[in-house]
Amino acid sequence: MFRSETDTEVLAHLIEAFGGEIDQAVRQALTVIQGTYGIVVIDARQPDRLVAGRNGSPVVVGVGEREMFIASDVAALVRHTEQVLYLDDHEVAVLDAGGYRTVTLDDQPTTKAPATIQWGHEAYDRGEHEHFMLKEILEQPDACERTLKGRLDLQFSTAHLGGLNLTPRDLLDIKRIKILGCGSAFYSGIGGAHLLEALTRVPADAEAASEFRYRNPVIEKDCLYIAVSQSGETADTLAAVHEVQRKGGRVLGIVNVVGSSIARACGGGIYIHAGPEVSVASTKVFTCTLVAFALLALYLGRIRDLSPAAGRRLIDGLQKLPDQMREILRGLDHIRAVADKYATRDNAFYIGRANGYPVALEGAQKLKEIAYVHAEAYPASELKHGPLALVCPETPTFVVLPRDHLYEKSLSSLEEIRARRGPVIAVTQAGDERLAGRVDDMLVVPPTEDELNPILLTLPLQLIAYYAAVRLGRDVDQPRNLAKSVTVE
Ligand code: F6R
Repeated sequence: MFRSETDTEVLAHLIEAFGGEIDQAVRQALTVIQGTYGIVVIDARQPDRLVAGRNGSPVVVGVGEREMFIASDVAALVRHTEQVLYLDDHEVAVLDAGGYRTVTLDDQPTTKAPATIQWGHEAYDRGEHEHFMLKEILEQPDACERTLKGRLDLQFSTAHLGGLNLTPRDLLDIKRIKILGCGSAFYSGIGGAHLLEALTRVPADAEAASEFRYRNPVIEKDCLYIAVSQSGETADTLAAVHEVQRKGGRVLGIVNVVGSSIARACGGGIYIHAGPEVSVASTKVFTCTLVAFALLALYLGRIRDLSPAAGRRLIDGLQKLPDQMREILRGLDHIRAVADKYATRDNAFYIGRANGYPVALEGAQKLKEIAYVHAEAYPASELKHGPLALVCPETPTFVVLPRDHLYEKSLSSLEEIRARRGPVIAVTQAGDERLAGRVDDMLVVPPTEDELNPILLTLPLQLIAYYAAVRLGRDVDQPRNLAKSVTVE
């Protein structure tokens, strides 16, 4: 009946029809609205009252001293209050300065107590850093320590993961693992699948959550689904979780933001504890997600056939990571010089083999996102099946080259590039005297366990993208066309 009117006019009519009861009008309107929304309504005639509702998009209520707040992200509230509550889908909050109440669309009260936020406002300060992205890259050693904190069990060479909500017997029944996430979370899932399959011998793979939900996927009861998300609010990942659950599947979350929609929907999983990530480009959460996958692989592996000695080896490797990250981060000047050298090229290739491939994907993703340089990632073995035709002196290739059992094979890919006079930047570990004469530049990381290589190899590539973006004068923390939480389909 209101077809020719704007949404605001429709609401104004409804408020009038309900005798000025704005919350009734909003609830009535929301029963007919389709699609996702996070909405807050104020009536100019009753400016002391706010009504908010959500379906799919996050809405957070901040509870202060005789003052209340509404935002889509807790980051906007941290300077004002430490008490927040997250609305659920089809829930409405009615606020005035003195308090709040939450109800369902048909006015049934929902009892919601506020929770204390995990991070104070200092965690959201840029400090002395020029950009949040650099701050967050440099925070990785501490973030990694937090992901590991209290989770390593030296006595039984396993991990403590209190929030899985699955018994060892449930986990023994798993025949397959499927990881779902978008963008960098998806790439960390590819790395996670390698880790899980290597250490548990359970077949594991990763799929873009944004595609998964649209292909009417078969859900298997003995498959463990894992949703990965920094924000916990990515609409495509949340929809994939709902798709699995609707068909009777079981989903764990690997999520950074405590209390977020995906964390709540999964009801079990691992919090990454990397701390708030403000810059649009994900950095510390990518590496800490891989650490969380390593913990899960250790735990699942030790329930199955992973020996105590192999568990111990992984634990030793994990414990060394923070200091090894610090070592990499002491080499900023060299990494910056390499970034400056190639920043103005139009294209870049990133190649990696097996667990080096997600590192290549993430390196290329960072360069595209914040430097706006066209970058493509390929499994090193795929180069000769097509992209080799594009290798030329103008296009640098970043070769992810851990010194693992595939090292010699990757060297032959490197030679294929050199033969076409393509500049080569090796991201590698020290120790091969032959390499210096065969590459144009080297970015060196400390040696670690093979399964953990992707974690360390990612850091120099984050910095390459960062310094290239700075050199090109880009808006590093808020790159064009991108949002930190993608809460739309
Ligand atoms: C890349 C990036 C995006 C996100 C993706 C998923 O730097 O930030 O690709 O990784 O949008 O976001 P989350 O992890 O919040 O689900």
